[in-house]
Amino acid sequence: MRLVVTGSQGQVVRALIERAGPELEIVALGRPELDLEHPGDLAALFSRHAPDAIVNAAAYTAVDKAESERETAFAVNGAGAGAVAAAARRLNVPVVQISTDYVFDGSGDRPLRETDPTGPIGVYGASKLAGEQAVAAAAPDHVILRTAWVYAPFGANFVRTMLRLAAARDELKVVGDQFGTPTSALDIAAAIESVARHLVARRDAARLRGIFHMTAKGGPISWADFAAEIFRQSALRGGPGARVTAIPTSEYPTPARRPAWSCLDGGKLAAIHGVTLPDWRDALAQTIERLAAQGEWQ
Ligand SMILES: NC(=O)c1ccc[n+]([C@@H]2O[C@H](COP(=O)([O-])OP(=O)(O)OC[C@H]3O[C@@H](n4cnc5c(N)ncnc54)[C@H](OP(=O)(O)O)[C@@H]3O)[C@@H](O)[C@H]2O)c1
Repeated sequence: MRLVVTGSQGQVVRALIERAGPELEIVALGRPELDLEHPGDLAALFSRHAPDAIVNAAAYTAVDKAESERETAFAVNGAGAGAVAAAARRLNVPVVQISTDYVFDGSGDRPLRETDPTGPIGVYGASKLAGEQAVAAAAPDHVILRTAWVYAPFGANFVRTMLRLAAARDELKVVGDQFGTPTSALDIAAAIESVARHLVARRDAARLRGIFHMTAKGGPISWADFAAEIFRQSALRGGPGARVTAIPTSEYPTPARRPAWSCLDGGKLAAIHGVTLPDWRDALAQTIERLAAQGEWQ
């Protein structure tokens, strides 16, 4: 299977590139060749690589900056995603769109299902929701995978930030009243591959298409819980640690509001695609081991 993937340096893109081998070819197209703010003729660009499916893993992900760069966020995440899907349709191949828990308003007390009402509370979430709608309108042959709290052994993410901060401080204050499930980009990439294979093999199976929630098993936990587990596992491998003090969101003001409840129900993905991600603690262990092996805290 050959997947054309948007972006080249993103966490999910890099995790997909790592999976490439005899059974999976990944063609990653990033800026300046492919700029979702100014997509141009994407069908012509994609067709050069004769993909079996297209994965839109690039996005404007700067959640706080999006509040003051609404137009760019919507251009990339909304219209840009739609342009990728329209190109996929022209080439008659399926498209996998990566989306987010931020399409929800953060209220609730049970894992959120695909049928639950959306209601983004910030520009980033609103732009990603616009992207979901644009993809659905442009290409019936699509899957939208909503995930959350993404980290990897590379790129910019919470795990690496916490470890970097802990190298310099004994105590860290971390938000304790936002709940979700940390999800490894390595597991997301494996899930994308499985789903794409199903879409390519069964072109007429409508039930394989649509929106699916995809996060690690276990949880939900708070960011403070996550930080504490990062440091527990880091300590086991000689890495940095710090005492974690949980604080309310009100004590950590940011330009963008974040959903307080981000727990996604992965039952539909398991039932229809047979895809279940590992437990978040086991997934974290894999990343911490890689960080130790690559000398992250030497
Ligand atoms: N990170 C999370 O916690 C999280 C949570 C839920 C869902 N998601 C979704 O998961 C997907 C992957 O996220 P990620 O964490 O892998 O993202 P990431 O590490 O922030 O990387 C974003 C990628 O998008 C590319 N990009 C940004 N603007 C672009 C543009 N105008 N044209 C082309 N490429 C552009 C970036 O390119 P450069 O390398 O050139 O900057 C980068 O490769 C996204 O759809 C995101 O919305 C992420």
